[in-house]
Amino acid sequence: MIPVNEPLIGKQEEAYVRECLHTGWISSSGRFIEQFEEKWADYCGKKFGVAVSSGTAALQVALGCIGLEPGDRVVLPTFTIISCALAVIYNGGIPVLADCDPHTWCLSPEGVKDAIDREVQAGNAHRLKAIMPVHIYGHPVDVDPILELADTYSLTVLEDAAEAHGAEYLAGRTGGSAAWKRCGGLSDLAVFSFYANKAITTGEGGMVITDNAMFAEKARSLRNLCFRPEQRFLHTEAGHNFRMTNIQAAIGLGQLERIETILEKKKAIGKAYGERLSDLRDLMLPIEEPWAKSIYWMFGIVLEEETGINASQMAQRLRDKGIDTRPFFLGMHEQPVFHKMGLFKNEKYPVSERLARQGLYLPSGLTLTESQIDEVAEAVRNILT
Ligand SMILES: Cc1ncc(COP(=O)(O)O)c(C=O)c1O
Repeated sequence: MIPVNEPLIGKQEEAYVRECLHTGWISSSGRFIEQFEEKWADYCGKKFGVAVSSGTAALQVALGCIGLEPGDRVVLPTFTIISCALAVIYNGGIPVLADCDPHTWCLSPEGVKDAIDREVQAGNAHRLKAIMPVHIYGHPVDVDPILELADTYSLTVLEDAAEAHGAEYLAGRTGGSAAWKRCGGLSDLAVFSFYANKAITTGEGGMVITDNAMFAEKARSLRNLCFRPEQRFLHTEAGHNFRMTNIQAAIGLGQLERIETILEKKKAIGKAYGERLSDLRDLMLPIEEPWAKSIYWMFGIVLEEETGINASQMAQRLRDKGIDTRPFFLGMHEQPVFHKMGLFKNEKYPVSERLARQGLYLPSGLTLTESQIDEVAEAVRNILT
């Protein structure tokens, strides 16, 4: 079976992990934690990094930094992982959904505008606290118009860059001072996942990055049970044990040292699939907007309805040929768990609904060979023609 992803662990990671084992620095203290935090934040153009145990934990901590009151609203895409909506709920807030852009599959600025208008009309303007753009499958969200909306309504912007390590966005392109910036470095606060299928991995892991010293301090406290330095076992706030270990950070640091090679390989896979599949009219492939440099974290395809084949049928046919795939996200508004909570009932987001039914992603891991790409592309072509 050609896997969707396989992590590629290098010699440097091995050497750093061995150092942890030999020196005994295996818990959440040690030199690799600090170095990984510093270097990752710096790579993304931010001052502070707070490493945690997963991307999901990072979202929870980041929303904890914003400090939601019960009933506060956070606008986020319906087309994302459940971690985003759950983090809002676990922090006492209410997720407000928005549809995504049909070409980039990322949170659309128009969708955000609609969501905000809906809340304003419902008399909830004062409860709006934040917007969470999620960069999908390696392509950046068009963040500038979202930052403008955030400015208008005094909202904090929290990027979820779990799937877009090193992806770039041309910020300020309408204002005359355009500059390429890395995802995660575009807003007040950002989170990453370093799960094993991410471009840079620590096995399990995540990070919150920010320029805001108060957010950083709060994030450090929240990840470590809100112990107080002056009186360790006296707690005035509720935190979590979301600490990352030195061993995980050692793997992350080793990976970060060769991030350029890793991202080149990702982009090469994206280009190779593009070359082999772009003539198939029944297939929508990932695009790269002129204001974006995608890392093609996962190579998604969306089948036109005219093919008579949906994503799960395509996945089954590819599996029969020894090729593994993953379905696209199912929107948050279609999740029974949220309907049970009384959320999102009867809400409709047509772009996300279509992507959920017609979209899937192909093997895109760092160990993928040229001949495997040929095999996958050929299999897709044979099914469609
Ligand atoms: C966009 C996005 N955000 C957050 C997460 C959650 O990260 P983790 O799996 O590390 O908890 C993921 C998934 O892996 C993701 O794809």
